[in-house]
Amino acid sequence: MYYHKILVIGGGLAGLRAAIESAPRVDTAIISQVHPVRSHSGAAQGGINAALANNPKGADDNPEKHGFDTIKGSDYLADQEAAELMTKEAPGCIYETEHWGCPFSRTDAGKIAQRPFGGAGFPRTCFAADKTGMYLLHTLWERSVKLDVPLYEDRVLVDLVLDGDACRGVICWNLKTGELEPFMAEAVIFASGGSGQIYARSTNALISSGSALAAAYRRGVPLKDMEFIQFHPTSLWGTNILMTEGARGEGGYLINNNGERFMTKYAPKAMELAPRDIVSRSIQTEINEGRGINGGPYVYLDLRHLGREKILERLPGIRDLAINFVGVDPIDKPVPIQPGQHYTMGGIDTDVNAATKFKGLYAAGECACVSVHGANRLGGNSMLETVVFGKISGRSAADYVLSKKDQKQGESAVMNCLRETKAAIDRLLSQSGDENHADIRAEMRQTMFEKCGIFRDKKGLDEGLAKIRELKERYQKVTVQNKGKTYNLDLIRCYELQGMLEVAEAMLVGALRREESRGAHSRLDFKERDDVKFLKHTVAVYTPDGPQISYRDVKPGKYKPEARRY
Ligand code: FUM
Repeated sequence: MYYHKILVIGGGLAGLRAAIESAPRVDTAIISQVHPVRSHSGAAQGGINAALANNPKGADDNPEKHGFDTIKGSDYLADQEAAELMTKEAPGCIYETEHWGCPFSRTDAGKIAQRPFGGAGFPRTCFAADKTGMYLLHTLWERSVKLDVPLYEDRVLVDLVLDGDACRGVICWNLKTGELEPFMAEAVIFASGGSGQIYARSTNALISSGSALAAAYRRGVPLKDMEFIQFHPTSLWGTNILMTEGARGEGGYLINNNGERFMTKYAPKAMELAPRDIVSRSIQTEINEGRGINGGPYVYLDLRHLGREKILERLPGIRDLAINFVGVDPIDKPVPIQPGQHYTMGGIDTDVNAATKFKGLYAAGECACVSVHGANRLGGNSMLETVVFGKISGRSAADYVLSKKDQKQGESAVMNCLRETKAAIDRLLSQSGDENHADIRAEMRQTMFEKCGIFRDKKGLDEGLAKIRELKERYQKVTVQNKGKTYNLDLIRCYELQGMLEVAEAMLVGALRREESRGAHSRLDFKERDDVKFLKHTVAVYTPDGPQISYRDVKPGKYKPEARRY
């Protein structure tokens, strides 16, 4: 059995930042499905928000304004204390990564450059061309190497060990050997990323299945606000690869089939830089009403007026992607884009210290819900969340372990869990039925996109829920064709699908019960926000018959909910 005082699950930005914080104080190891520099954080493009006030257009910016924009952008569902903590910590976290070597783009005066993103109205987003996530990821990875943080890569988390109210470790599948491995710990930090693969048309990598979150959910860890799914307005038509919001921040337009800059109708002031929920709904409305290009399911992102030099300097990554995946050079032609699932605002229920209700269990980054994003996340606040709450989770876990008297108590709980997990995997490997898990996955993804997508209503959500429950039944009859040990992705994809279906069900039930429109949750049958009934977080607890839902008041703060106008 492996033993570390702290285990960090996930080697992306949140996981690395957590480990960097805890490792100098307490023995810490990282467990990751892929090598850390291949984590999905590397796909983050346009930037990270912090009120540095480096750009003359944002010279009077400050963390309070950033906090207000985040809360308003969240449609007032964010806990204000959490959002304000994040925006207060932001400048320090940016300078920290700069001092560790992150090569941010610069102003002429040599300061960290900032570009406008949605919801602010002026430049607040620090960036490194359009590859900010990749540069930050390499910076933090190198820092973790300097600190000698042990890494267990090619490990998929398949179970979480809880013993009463305490976390004791995890069970992982070693992709190389095909063996289940028990890991005991005093504290575990989940930093396992998002669940975008539950949806068709996602910008997320294949590894963003939410399988670790699902394992925690099945063991009784509550999930919060799972109905809030972000659609990024501009994903590349066809593949749904991200076309950064930075493209609009640099001045890109959206145009429909009539050549109209249609955002004038939907957000006359903020235009293309309204919050993402608004821009995605606007694009989808244009498409639904037949003004997509040639009547098709996409509109154009037009960058031509920015000029070659600016595109090459500021947006080289998305230019390459557009050339390689749709054969369009944005210097000469507009890029076909459509909204794509991008981010899960909900996640493992934590407090501002990244703590869950279980002793020794923490979560940070996209898999967690603190909540700082509420019903709609502002672009550029995701990477910020990873470094701020990654750091906080590492600090909290280290404090907890250092204060803990009874160490190394979890061995029998870990071994029991290992036996249960092994039995479940053996059952899956030995059963034979006429269902193919890849088909079930494809149907789940399409169902979630169509029935629990940008626009929702009771009929669609009911149909979606019935379909997901049918898929759960059909899942009982899947066959894993590959019985081998080494890199058996057939088995892993099949195993994780069960959890994805359970999380999809929690998303649907949350969406069905929330009879209002707020942020990214847009109900055609309940078009108004209802602060009397629903200024509340949805909390979902797993039961074999589906999620048990309860509500918790949003923590009040100094800003009273107002209508959002952009
Ligand atoms: O558009 C983007 O570059 C994505 C940023 C984000 O999701 O924060």
